[in-house]
Amino acid sequence: TKKGFIFDLDGVIVDTAKYHFLAWKKLAKSVGVDFTKIQNEQLKGVSRKNSLEKILEWGNKTLSEEEFNRLMALKNEDYLSYVENMKEDEILPDVPKVLNYLMSKEQPLALGSASKNAHTILDKVNLLEKFDAIVDGNGVKKGKPDPEVFLNAAKLLKLNPDDCIVFEDAKAGVEAANAANMISIGIGEKSVLDEADYVFKDFTEISLEFLDDIMSNKIS
Ligand code: BG6
Ligand code: MG
Repeated sequence: TKKGFIFDLDGVIVDTAKYHFLAWKKLAKSVGVDFTKIQNEQLKGVSRKNSLEKILEWGNKTLSEEEFNRLMALKNEDYLSYVENMKEDEILPDVPKVLNYLMSKEQPLALGSASKNAHTILDKVNLLEKFDAIVDGNGVKKGKPDPEVFLNAAKLLKLNPDDCIVFEDAKAGVEAANAANMISIGIGEKSVLDEADYVFKDFTEISLEFLDDIMSNKIS
């Protein structure tokens, strides 16, 4: 059977959290707020706007709308200076292996990301052509944990949500996949992603047999 395999981008296909951290840290510092790695973890899967809101909240700061928008633009400019240098070698281990295997089985593939930079990043690492559908931060009204991003991806793939599988590294993303009635596969720590149907440390832990079992409805 045809299943829709939906991949989150940041933390699943590439590790961009380190660049988000550097850019947010610098930005937070410019308004006199400290920003830690632990806080950065909590921003995984969270939209740019909601991320800045949280940082300001943590630092007890309020800004005018104008200043808020200026800072969001600055952060993104800084973030893109890192993205600029990304190449194929930043693709996480065994991601191409899984994508290619699913393509060889003619399974529809989609990207479901909160990032407005998803297109740029996929292009940088040369994965743009692998996906039949791309839903990113530009195409949704509500961010994860709302299921909109994944439901839009299923729609574009012309599949029912319960025939879709989501790979996610963020708690908010796993919640979104579950709310969409999809199989959720967490990529990362079991303690963080405890709501996922399955959790793997990374793609090197995912066997082709496991993917076969999904395609043959042995896992649902
Ligand atoms: C998510 C990241 O994929 O995209 C978040 O995990 C990020 O950290 C969000 O804030 C929005 O990304 P961008 O590229 O539009 O700022
Ligand atoms: Mg992610």
